[in-house]
Amino acid sequence: MENSEFRRYAHDVVDWMADYLENVASYPVKPQVTPNEILDKLPMSPPKCAENFESLFRDFRDIIVPGMTHWQHPSFFAYFPANNSSPSILAEMLTAAMGAQCMSWATSPAATELEERVMEWVRDMIGLPPAFTGVIQDTASTATLCSILTAREARSHFAINEEGFSREHRFTVYCSTEAHSSIEKGTKIAGIGKNSLRKVAVDERFAMRPEALEKAIVADIGKGLVPLCVVAAIGTTGSTAIDPLKQIGEICRRHNLWLHVDAALAGSALVLPETRWMLEGIEFADTFVFNPHKWMFTNFDCSAYFVRDPGALIRTFEILPEYLKTPEGERVNNYRDWGIQLGRRFRALKLWFVIRSYGVEGLQARIRDHMRMAQKLSETIRRDPDFEVLAPVPLNTVCFRFRPSRLSDEEALNRANANLMERLNHTGRLFLTHTKLNGQYALRFVVGQTTVQQHHVDEAWDLIAKTARELND
Ligand SMILES: Cc1ncc(COP(=O)(O)O)c(C=O)c1O
Repeated sequence: MENSEFRRYAHDVVDWMADYLENVASYPVKPQVTPNEILDKLPMSPPKCAENFESLFRDFRDIIVPGMTHWQHPSFFAYFPANNSSPSILAEMLTAAMGAQCMSWATSPAATELEERVMEWVRDMIGLPPAFTGVIQDTASTATLCSILTAREARSHFAINEEGFSREHRFTVYCSTEAHSSIEKGTKIAGIGKNSLRKVAVDERFAMRPEALEKAIVADIGKGLVPLCVVAAIGTTGSTAIDPLKQIGEICRRHNLWLHVDAALAGSALVLPETRWMLEGIEFADTFVFNPHKWMFTNFDCSAYFVRDPGALIRTFEILPEYLKTPEGERVNNYRDWGIQLGRRFRALKLWFVIRSYGVEGLQARIRDHMRMAQKLSETIRRDPDFEVLAPVPLNTVCFRFRPSRLSDEEALNRANANLMERLNHTGRLFLTHTKLNGQYALRFVVGQTTVQQHHVDEAWDLIAKTARELND
């Protein structure tokens, strides 16, 4: 592609992007395609000769877009938000144009130093103590794995990195039954083993029971095992339950365990001073992660990982072949040693663009508004005798179910709610996903899209209530 063509097509693409963002609400949130429908439209082999951009772009619009789920749709209330914003998209375009590898200071000094400064901003914005140092990871799953690996190495005096596991390294890891699956994945990958992960019982608010945690730790010590690490959740995926960090931290301190905090979704809410109670006990934490790529208007991927001891992190991951040696040595951060991957995208740029474009107050206003809308919805649901709210709503997620008086059998209620969700999602007018809380099928309504407004939530609720009553007739 000639540069003159690139310039022209780039304008076409940006026009499409601006139209898309302006009209995203007119798309069905979830595509109505069947498995393999897209695959059948794609040629079996790559083109032998160059194709022109017009036909490529036409196929993008005609084949790909109709098969996409529109995560930026204001009525996307499923899973968790992965909201973006215009400044973030613009930064991603610049990142793509520069195509820099940001693995060491020398490979892109500005990328390294911007990441350093932006992570200080983010740390201060969410009220983490200055003792934490930040680095951007691709996802919370990776950050949690890094934390478990660092805990493993610190506890084994870096022996497992050198020699592999020996008989004395019979580690156990702890999280609640409501914790995210990435903790189990991390425990498996770290060589500790899924069966050494203890899923600790939760209370009626779906938060970890500290007394059950301590009991499990003591029992494991009694069996000659080595309790290694607790992963506490600030905002579980299912219902945004908040584990009691202080009590968990005191237990970790008593029994010499590493404490990692997974705040993947909820961490963004910490920009609000009124939510800082969730951080009580943070002084006990070794590591902390949250995802600006979920609820801070920053394109996927951008996961903010904070560590108390960068030295332990670096010692866990550093490796220095001859071809990566640079003269700056210890005077600079070489982020290739702060995690698993060598090659790194320039992710700090979009976070910088977002924070400067919104300002801290702008971010606070938007996130506060999302929480207000979720609160209002939960009150509306509570007032409706045919529905019930199934979990506390501390942040932006409402878990509820349809519970008409004629249905009392739990199995029938689960089926009715699964059916309700299926019907709702089939309309294309909103998108919800579910979880199970105490075995009860719960619809999750997560408010967090960049452009969501009160009327989107109200319209969604009207549709939910109407569809449920039609089903019940
Ligand atoms: C609490 C929690 N932890 C971890 C994750 C995993 O996030 P990521 O996709 O960044 O690995 C999620 C995603 O939903 C989450 O909600």
